[in-house]
Amino acid sequence: MMTRRQALKTTLMTSLACATAAEFRFANAQTPAPSTAASGPFTLPSLPYAFDALEPHIDARTMQIHHDKHHAAYVANLNKAVADLPELSSKPVDDLLKNLSAVPEKVRTAVRNQGGGHYNHSIFWQMMKKNGGGEPSGELAKTIDKAFGSFNAFKEQFTKAAVGQFGSGWAWLVRDGSDLKIVPSPNQDSPISEGKVPLLGVDVWEHAYYLKYQNRRPDYVAAWFNVINWGYVTERFQGASK
Ligand SMILES: [Fe+2]
Repeated sequence: MMTRRQALKTTLMTSLACATAAEFRFANAQTPAPSTAASGPFTLPSLPYAFDALEPHIDARTMQIHHDKHHAAYVANLNKAVADLPELSSKPVDDLLKNLSAVPEKVRTAVRNQGGGHYNHSIFWQMMKKNGGGEPSGELAKTIDKAFGSFNAFKEQFTKAAVGQFGSGWAWLVRDGSDLKIVPSPNQDSPISEGKVPLLGVDVWEHAYYLKYQNRRPDYVAAWFNVINWGYVTERFQGASK
């Protein structure tokens, strides 16, 4: 039978082994964390690629902090906000954001900010990929040409919206009915709360770029075009994704 002293020693050794493993993973910063254990109805989705997949355009350390800390915090805070409200916690986050006026007033701002942060980041990770960039093709390319004149004109207008967003926020390419539009949004406001379908979005919060680009948001946005996952954007355009 294990003595109390032996049990304590075993516990301590196990804790040390876990801490070492965690530090090793953190130090290497190559492997995204698995989805967090659900402490509420909403969970952090895994990053669909390694932290360093978007190098040199987006650095691994930024991706790790952005996903594991910032996005995780939106999820945790959203869970806290809806903890006592099963009528909210049973719905997908995009359903809540599409109908904010139906959310009880006492948690509406929290759902808008934390839920918006969760939803926006969940699609943002998928809008990027290793060896991304280039230009869209097919119907999406034609529709962009029709709406903005050319891909370069679209890129110019999108960049202007991203760089010009005052303070924290996003710039989006959205589908609004049958039109394509470029719209900025402050904070974590999401275009889906205005009935628009976000196809492509760039996070221009400083947490998305400050470690590598400091105050040079235009350089970050220019580099970010090299990691766009146009395949995913096309799926969204075709209505395959929410
Ligand atoms: Fe962000």
